[in-house]
Parts: sequence; C-alpha cells; structure tokens
Amino acid sequence: MTLTVTNLAKYYGDVAVFKNVSLQVAAGEFVAIVGESGVGKSTLLNCMAGLDNWDTGGVSLVGQDLGTLGDDQRALLRRVNVGFVFQAFHVLPHLDVTQNVALPLLLLGQHDDARVQAMLTAVGLDGLGARLPQQLSGGQLQRVAIARALVHRPRLLLADEPTGNLDPTTAAKVMDALVAQTREHGASLVLVTHSGAAAERADRVLRLTVEGVF
Ligand SMILES: Nc1ncnc2c1ncn2[C@@H]1O[C@H](COP(=O)(O)OP(=O)(O)OP(=O)(O)O)[C@@H](O)[C@H]1O
Ligand SMILES: [Mg+2]
Repeated sequence: MTLTVTNLAKYYGDVAVFKNVSLQVAAGEFVAIVGESGVGKSTLLNCMAGLDNWDTGGVSLVGQDLGTLGDDQRALLRRVNVGFVFQAFHVLPHLDVTQNVALPLLLLGQHDDARVQAMLTAVGLDGLGARLPQQLSGGQLQRVAIARALVHRPRLLLADEPTGNLDPTTAAKVMDALVAQTREHGASLVLVTHSGAAAERADRVLRLTVEGVF
C-alpha cells in the first residue's frame, strides 16, 4: 500500500474534526475525498503528508509509520515520495515558473532541465517558463502547482481542490493534466474536491464526515 490511514482522529480541544478515519490507497490508485466545507478534508490531507499531527491512530506512507518519525525524517520521506498541490497553491512569488517547477528536483540534488521543460509542456505551460506567478491566471497558477508536485515523480500525489475557482472548461483541462501525469508515472492520487465532475474520474470516492470516511 502506498498510503494506509488507521483509525485516525484529530481534535481541537474537545471538538473532533474527524475520528475513526481508516482508508488505504494502493499504488497507482486514484481516490477522491469529498465532504462539506469545514469537515476536515484539508486537515486530513495534511496529516497524510505528515504536515499536521493527529491525536489517535496512525498514518503509514510507503511502508513507513509517520508517527514514529520526527519532523526532519518526515520532510525527507515527503521530499522523495510525495507531491502536494495546496488549496492556496503556495507557488513562490519571487521565482519564475521554471524555477518553481524545478524546486523539488533542486532539493533532491537532481537538476534536470529537460524534465522540467517536459513537465511544463505536459500541463500546457509551454512558453510561460520565464513568467513570474503574478503574471499568470488562476488556472495557469494551478497548473504550475501541479507540475511542481509531479516533477520529481513522487509515488503519492495529494491534491487539495486543485480545480477550485476555475471555470468548468479550464477545470477539465487541469484535471486532464493531473490524471494523465499521475497515470503515466503510476503514482497514487488523493484528490480533495467539491467538484462532481472531478470526483467522477476517480477509481473510488470517499466521503469524509465527523464520524469517519464512507
Ligand atoms: N487552529 C484551529 N483551531 C480550531 N479549529 C480549527 C483550527 N484549524 C482548523 N480548524 C477547524 O478544523 C475544521 C477542518 O478544517 P479544514 O480546513 O480541514 O476543512 P475542509 O474540509 O478542508 O474545508 P473546505 O472544504 O472549506 O476547504 C474546520 O471546522 C476548522 O474551522
Ligand atoms: Mg480545505
């Protein structure tokens, strides 16, 4: 299993964000997670990446129990195995498009211009490599975030509403890029979405509620 979540619970004070969350994601599988605003989808995704802490239960990523790892070890595991498309992009404003996409490779000491260019082409950003993020549209920014999340060929891609705020046509294009790239490299994809059209493309759709996933 690429990802195993077992009986996970997260509380703020006495209030459960979620509890009894158990799920598995196999290699190459595409799982969509849906649920009402505020139910904890982004929080769960952050826990899956070891970016947030939980109260009970566990997360195992590519066979490693995140609960036993410190922040530095989690960061190393993530750097190699995980791509993350955040709900708010987190594209670095002072780096141009090419530099943003190349960043995960630089952190791994794997400089590879050809791969970065191929990634930009794959998400339809040919010719925009020298632009700064502020010179891009919302849909283009989302594609930069997707290219950056996939450039180092992670085994698991976690994407948090990557088509939020896009018109249906652009959203479909961004989804095409995301699905094609994960399928091509056999990566697993966990996609949080409010979009029925996006969820429809998944192998499996899970609904997150305060009582667990169903
Ligand atoms: N530091 C905090 N203290 C208390 N509650 C918090 C804190 N951070 C987040 N929450 C609450 O945790 C819940 C889960 O938030 P989260 O962002 O995971 O929801 P979500 O399902 O991703 O929502 P959306 O669909 O709107 O993105 C929310 O109800 C939020 O108000
Ligand atoms: Mg969210």
